[in-house]
Order: sequence, then structure tokens, then C-alpha cells
Amino acid sequence: MEISAKTPVYCVIGHPVGHSLSPLMQNRAFAAAGCDGIYAAFDTADPKGAAAGIRALGIRGASVTIPHKVGIMDFLDEIDESAREIGAVNTIVNSGGKLRGCNTDGQGAVRALGENISVSGKKVLILGAGGAARAIVHALKANGADPYIANRTHEKARLLAQDLGAQAVSMDEISGGSFDIMVNTTPVGMHPYTDAMPVPESALAPGMYVMDIIYNPLCTKLLTKAEAAGCHVIDGAGMFVYQGALQFSLWTGRDAPVAQMRQVVYEHLQY
Ligand code: ATR
Repeated sequence: MEISAKTPVYCVIGHPVGHSLSPLMQNRAFAAAGCDGIYAAFDTADPKGAAAGIRALGIRGASVTIPHKVGIMDFLDEIDESAREIGAVNTIVNSGGKLRGCNTDGQGAVRALGENISVSGKKVLILGAGGAARAIVHALKANGADPYIANRTHEKARLLAQDLGAQAVSMDEISGGSFDIMVNTTPVGMHPYTDAMPVPESALAPGMYVMDIIYNPLCTKLLTKAEAAGCHVIDGAGMFVYQGALQFSLWTGRDAPVAQMRQVVYEHLQY
């Protein structure tokens, strides 16, 4: 694909962003969809300047990553209702200089689950009560699921549950068989502490769907033990790919080439 003077430019803003797989994934998506577009990474500690730059340069869309998902909101013209309820933005859409903030993280997780199981009416246990948990619980509610939140600091689980109309459960109350789906949103098991898991093995039961949003490593100890216990497992590439696929559609109005996006992510995460 040739880059011309008319090629639409997209980017990710964050600090740091050197490790981000979004440029590889989105550029593969533009190529696979036969869609004119180029996607770059900008490492910036200045969300206000970044928003002004996106407007001034006519950058058509941006992904927003750590640490700007909350801070960027002050500098946008409009925030989607769901992003406002989640309290964070991971996507900017630039329509003629007007910047709209959206959040595809939670829907991305639900789509990744949806490849395996419909979440509607299911009891879903969310481990953790931070920003990722908030986005996922919000999307689960919007898709008719029944979310429960368990967190090391129970008070945070209680407050999040109260805020989003979910339920809080104590870590000690979790036992295998009580939930249809479990999603780990904590960093427990992430490189370099790969020998840790966020719940004891007794929390796993055959037939349960277990998703980890960690993708470093792809096969966490939680997923290894879950598979051995007879659970269906969904690795962290799923949510990452689908949050990016939803961004691609918001920017281009087209279906995203999910298979090719997943392929490039797997090519760079298999280690
Ligand atoms: P993110 O925004 O990516 O979701 P976060 O806001 O830092 O990240 O939230 C991380 C979540 O993982 C928190 O709920 C945190 O629990 P606390 O509220 O008790 O801090 C949880 N978490 C982090 N490290 C953990 C650990 N070692 N064991 C259990 N839970 C942990």
C-alpha cells in the first residue's frame, strides 16, 4: 500500500508506548481491509498537547493508553455515554476537528468472550476492581450478564459494584461451580511473576469459561490450571484484538479484519 498526501493518519498516545502492539495490529488491519490509512505511536506525557496536535494535524483517530485514559477526557469535545459511565477513554474519533472520546475496552472483552459463550444471563466473576474491571463490568451489564466483583481490597469491589449495579463477593467466598465465567483483570500472573495466580485452584470447576486479560505471557498460570481443571480458556489476546477491532470500525465505518489482526498479535506474543 502506498502512502500518499491524502492517506489518513491514526496513532496511539501513551507514556511509554514503545512496547505497544497497536501499530503492528492496526497497520495490518488497514492493509488487510484494503483501506487507506497509517497508524503511528506517539510517546507523550502531555495529553492536552496531544489533543491539540490531533486537531491541528487532522489525525483522524487515536488510541489512548496508560497513563492518559482518564486525563485526556478534559481535552475532548464530546464523550460517549458509556465512556463517561466508565470514566475513561481509550479511543478518540476526529470528525472535522471535533474530538469524540469512546471506550472499546469493555466491549472488546465481551466480544472475546462472545466468540466462545454468550454472556447474556450468565454469572460472571470479575477478579480485580481497577480501571479494566470497571470497563468490563460496565460492558457485561450492557450485554445482559450478571457480574460479581472480587478484589484483594474488598471495599473497592463493594464501591465498584454499587456504582455499576453489580454485586461484590469476598475472595474467600469464591468456590468452583458458582460462576459460569471468570475474568482476571488483576496483574497477578503477569511477567515476571508468572508463577502466581489470582485465585486458588479450588475456584475452578469443569465447564467454566476462564478469561485472563494478561497477554504477557499469553498462557498464564491461571489459564494453565483452568485448562487442567476442565475449564474453557480464553487468553488475553482476545480482548486486545477486539478492543482494536472496534476502534478500527469507529474510525473507518468498516468491519475490522479480526483474523489478520489476531494473527499479527499472535506472531509477536508467542514466546
Ligand atoms: P487497571 O487499571 O489496569 O485495571 P489497577 O487500577 O491498578 O489496574 O487495578 C489493578 C487491580 O488488581 C486492583 O483491583 C488491585 O487490587 P487492590 O484494589 O487491592 O489494589 C488488583 N491487584 C493488583 N495487584 C494485586 C495482587 N498482587 N494481588 C491481588 N490483587 C491485585
